[in-house]
Amino acid sequence: MTELFEPTRLGSLELKNRFIRSATWEGIAEDDGHINDEILALYENLAKGGAAALITGYAFVIEEEQPSPKMFGAYDDSFIDAYKPLTQIVHDNDSTIMLQLAYGGSFTWFNTKEREIWGPSAVTNKISGVTPKEMTQENIQRLIAAFGDAARRAMESGFDGVELHAGHGYLLNQFLSPFFNQRGDAYGGSSENRARIISDIFDDMRKKTAPDFPLLVKLNCSDFMGPKGFTFEECKALCTTLDEKGIAAVEISGGPVFKAPRTEKETTFQVSLPADDSYFSEYAKEIARSIEAPVILVGGNRSMETMEKLLEETDISFFSLCRPILCEPDIINKWHADKTVTPRCTACGKCFTPTGNSCIQNREKAPQKE
Ligand SMILES: Cc1cc2nc3c(=O)[nH]c(=O)nc-3n(C[C@H](O)[C@H](O)[C@H](O)COP(=O)(O)O)c2cc1C
Repeated sequence: MTELFEPTRLGSLELKNRFIRSATWEGIAEDDGHINDEILALYENLAKGGAAALITGYAFVIEEEQPSPKMFGAYDDSFIDAYKPLTQIVHDNDSTIMLQLAYGGSFTWFNTKEREIWGPSAVTNKISGVTPKEMTQENIQRLIAAFGDAARRAMESGFDGVELHAGHGYLLNQFLSPFFNQRGDAYGGSSENRARIISDIFDDMRKKTAPDFPLLVKLNCSDFMGPKGFTFEECKALCTTLDEKGIAAVEISGGPVFKAPRTEKETTFQVSLPADDSYFSEYAKEIARSIEAPVILVGGNRSMETMEKLLEETDISFFSLCRPILCEPDIINKWHADKTVTPRCTACGKCFTPTGNSCIQNREKAPQKE
């Protein structure tokens, strides 16, 4: 019987169990995206918490495009040495770490008036109110190269892999969506064309990293916008393409997950997701059946019983968690000791604050530290 707490492989990586901390923007990096002692302490604590792999909060790959304040950066070679203490501290504490790479695009609230924001087409994002500039061919080629260079930097600084963020309404997700992508060139139109930028980024990251360096992708199983958005059928097709190219794992999420601030005064925003257990499992199950690469299920993983059942009855290989780990960084160790433990996270989604994201239950204390 396959077990949640058994060593296993993810591409070339040995993992001590099947739990992953899913990408979580902490909002405590330096303004230019570099790390600091607070981040080192946070990741040391996360590494000690029991997850086999930690996926960082999203990192911006083009210096002028920073979708959120105090997020990680990966846009120039200064990050190679700068990240070494982070990867080292995680390895020293028996875990592994992957850098998540992203371009926010019009789904962003940070300094939107002061920067040029790219989109597949100039379609206004109704959640943020931002109308991006339609990317030229040159912009697209620059972005592809920027992701490839960031992946190389990640490898050189000791990360165990990188994850491309192509979900949650950000730029790469918008390329996949016929609503946001109305291009008439090779990057728009058919499903295959809308997915081309992701394939091209994968190829560039592969070219610039070692052949066995794990490259992962996070995708929406669906945008839940009907035929106007990226559909489940299209997600399955893209997973097959990426599988054939050698993707190390696919993390299956879904839909636009954030609610925007509703008034000018309200600076925080909320995650808007169901509180049910493992709520994208039906989609992840079907994808896992159709591809060779391991599937990571994210979203609402709260019950050991549900995850054990999914592991036993489906081909899903890994379970990633964000909010429960934000609330209790050692929830994985607690489950290892007693699988009946109920996480304290109630999936309330009120994790965001302007001075660092944290669980509302721990607010009086430092972010993500109990
Ligand atoms: C505070 C916070 C920050 C997040 N930051 C990221 C991020 O940087 N990249 C990403 O792909 N997802 C991000 N997410 C989404 C989570 O990775 C995850 O997909 C979602 O919260 C559902 O999982 P959960 O039910 O375990 O929280 C974030 C979520 C929260 C609550």
